[in-house]
Amino acid sequence: MIIRKIVYKNFRNIEYACVTPSESVTVFNGLNGQGKTNILEGVYFFAGGRSFRTVHENELVRFGNEYGQIEMTFFDGKRENEMLFRFVPRLGKRFCSINGVPITRLSEVVGKFRAVLFCPEHLSIVKDGPSVRRKFIDHALSQTDTDYLRSLQKYNALLSQRNALIKMARDRRDDNIFLLSDVYAEQLANEAEIISEKRDIYVSCLSVVSDEIINDMTGGNESCKLTYQTRKTKEEYLSLLTENRDRELRFGATLYGTHKDDIEIMLNGREARAFGSQGQQRSVALSMKIAEGELSRKVSGTYPVFLFDDILSELDEKRREYLLSGIENKQVIITSCDKIDTPCKVYNVNNGVVN
Ligand SMILES: Nc1ncnc2c1ncn2[C@@H]1O[C@H](COP(=O)(O)OP(=O)(O)O)[C@@H](O)[C@H]1O
Ligand SMILES: [Mg+2]
Repeated sequence: MIIRKIVYKNFRNIEYACVTPSESVTVFNGLNGQGKTNILEGVYFFAGGRSFRTVHENELVRFGNEYGQIEMTFFDGKRENEMLFRFVPRLGKRFCSINGVPITRLSEVVGKFRAVLFCPEHLSIVKDGPSVRRKFIDHALSQTDTDYLRSLQKYNALLSQRNALIKMARDRRDDNIFLLSDVYAEQLANEAEIISEKRDIYVSCLSVVSDEIINDMTGGNESCKLTYQTRKTKEEYLSLLTENRDRELRFGATLYGTHKDDIEIMLNGREARAFGSQGQQRSVALSMKIAEGELSRKVSGTYPVFLFDDILSELDEKRREYLLSGIENKQVIITSCDKIDTPCKVYNVNNGVVN
């Protein structure tokens, strides 16, 4: 995957920018709040058809403008492609086209362009709550597996409908309303089985590759193992939902399902979250991110583009060197407040102006 060109128009604080990244390393330098992450947000948008920062796409349009737009030309290993997103707040809509053909469904975007994003939030993936880890697999899987994305979207829609019913049942103290939520339980369990199976398989693969990487990074000193918790069958998900009515009614929400699952991360045979030092936890995070890129290549034959948002200054010398040593023949885009001492193409970002 190689990005040739990205054109931003009224995207976030960028009025206009045309970026032609190097085929290896490109760095966006600038002080805080100038628009570096906005640049990467635009790039990553092409990878899944959504922002990694917001679900409100109106925010992507530069204040006071009718529309905002991003356009990318990239080579996917076989052919050159052109992809465009236009956001129109007044219509509450966004438009997408690939090679000039209008695209209406998000699933048609999936897999066309792939990227791995590594941002400071990921460094605490071991220590933080389960939602960060679920988001990690969701982003990774959604990029290569249309069926996964479809199930996830369906599951989330069903979940919010069921939650609304349970909340209403609680607020009105009406059990009959709660019984209606069973209509959703069956369908939720269906999708949950699909989601948990795919996550389980993905995490097993990620585990093997992450272990190899952390081994390599630490000269054989560390090993890690990742396990999805917990893959269940449709019947198991369904009985959790039907057997815990009282509890769910008390909380006013769906308490069981794949939206509660987690990844267990073991380091040298112990739970990394409890027993790993900050440095060790960061090594695991790093190895998981590099592994994500390796798996993406295994699935589709070419490396994704790597995006490092403000990550290098957070890593110590040893880990930074490891990360940078592995980026030969990959396209990498880095944002940083400091200068980077690696051969690269440099852009300066100042108040939304890129040059
Ligand atoms: N829709 C928008 N229109 C104009 N400016 C915006 C919009 N969204 C965010 N910004 C501005 O973008 C800047 C943040 O850019 P960001 O890329 O996060 O900076 P950094 O260089 O630190 O990564 C802030 O100044 C913010 O006000
Ligand atoms: Mg930033």
